[in-house]
Amino acid sequence: MAKKKAAILGSSGMIGQRFAHMLSGHPYFEVMAYCASDRSEGKKLADVWKLSDIELEEALGKSVIQATNPASLAKERIEVVFSGLPSDVAGPVEDECAEQGMAVFSNAASHRMEPDTPILVPEINPDHLAAVEVQKKRRRKGGFVVTNANCSVTGLALGLKPLVDRFGFTDVNVATYQALSGAGYPGVASLDILGNVLPFIKSEEEKMNSEGKKILGSYRNGKFVDSPVTIMASCARVDVRDGHLEAVFITHDKMPGEKEIAKTLQGFRARPQELKLPSAPEAPIIVLAEPNRPQPSLDADAGRPDRARGMAVTIGRIRVERNNLRFYLLSHNTIRGGAGGSVLNAELAHKEGVI
Ligand SMILES: NC(=O)c1ccc[n+]([C@@H]2O[C@H](COP(=O)([O-])OP(=O)(O)OC[C@H]3O[C@@H](n4cnc5c(N)ncnc54)[C@H](OP(=O)(O)O)[C@@H]3O)[C@@H](O)[C@H]2O)c1
Repeated sequence: MAKKKAAILGSSGMIGQRFAHMLSGHPYFEVMAYCASDRSEGKKLADVWKLSDIELEEALGKSVIQATNPASLAKERIEVVFSGLPSDVAGPVEDECAEQGMAVFSNAASHRMEPDTPILVPEINPDHLAAVEVQKKRRRKGGFVVTNANCSVTGLALGLKPLVDRFGFTDVNVATYQALSGAGYPGVASLDILGNVLPFIKSEEEKMNSEGKKILGSYRNGKFVDSPVTIMASCARVDVRDGHLEAVFITHDKMPGEKEIAKTLQGFRARPQELKLPSAPEAPIIVLAEPNRPQPSLDADAGRPDRARGMAVTIGRIRVERNNLRFYLLSHNTIRGGAGGSVLNAELAHKEGVI
């Protein structure tokens, strides 16, 4: 089958560069356009490369960045758009791409809470993809926008999904230790964060609850119905490059034992694994037995095969006392919580015949 022609928006940013790497040699999509702001127009990807953990392929590095213009993308017959635009810019640009008939897979917050826009996490809510049929009807040329969640929510929701389904947990408290790359480039000023912790990330705690409810909720009769799960978050920025670590606390009347919880998490498989999507990790949740794991520097890249590197969530230090459960959860914010999430969403849409 011919590959779908794709474009990356925000290709000079943290998410855009993950997209560039993950989509290189992708079996379903061929990137034809790398876009960013006018400031980057004409530069090569190699001139603005920021990911130190990835060796930039020579051919990819030579790709020339163009300004962001939905009408030009339509003329180039782009079918699929991967967006890593800042939220204050993304709204109208992504809308225009969708109006021009393109399928947009976005990391930005702009469209997340709209009534016909899914916040898709394919292991959790693949049925939410049906909402794009409503968008296709209202958009001029049948395009749509699919979003992924805030980077701190995706990993947590993935870890909660099998527990909520099996044990009916509803009350979740979480304290986050969020990496610097989550703030984009150049992000937090070095003098504010070196050797320091910042106990405030604007709007993050509210987003964790509202987006978590939508993701874990259902899509019935053309409407999103919130999950009863409540996420009370305390969010902090820490001096770590990649990987959001989260300390999770759950209270429940009938708390199962540690072994049963670990088995439920470790055995979780879902639609992406069934469909063998290229970026789906064989095991979406990996439980680590070592008492000092997960750690961002050791575990953020978890996930196999190679294309799914950084797509698995790691969980460790599972402890149950009376009716309280505690564990640590880690996920890669720019891969599972960012570009990788969108790539998996597009793979699901492709495999399910939505694009
Ligand atoms: N970082 C994460 O872990 C993470 C995770 C999930 C979601 N997100 C979301 O993903 C989006 C991108 O985040 P990021 O961390 O990649 O940000 P970033 O590093 O600041 O990159 C932003 C990108 O957008 C481009 N851009 C800025 N203004 C533009 C404009 N007016 N027109 C066209 N392009 C413009 C920038 O191009 P120039 O270089 O030319 O300025 C750059 O390529 C944000 O909405 C963020 O909230 C981020």
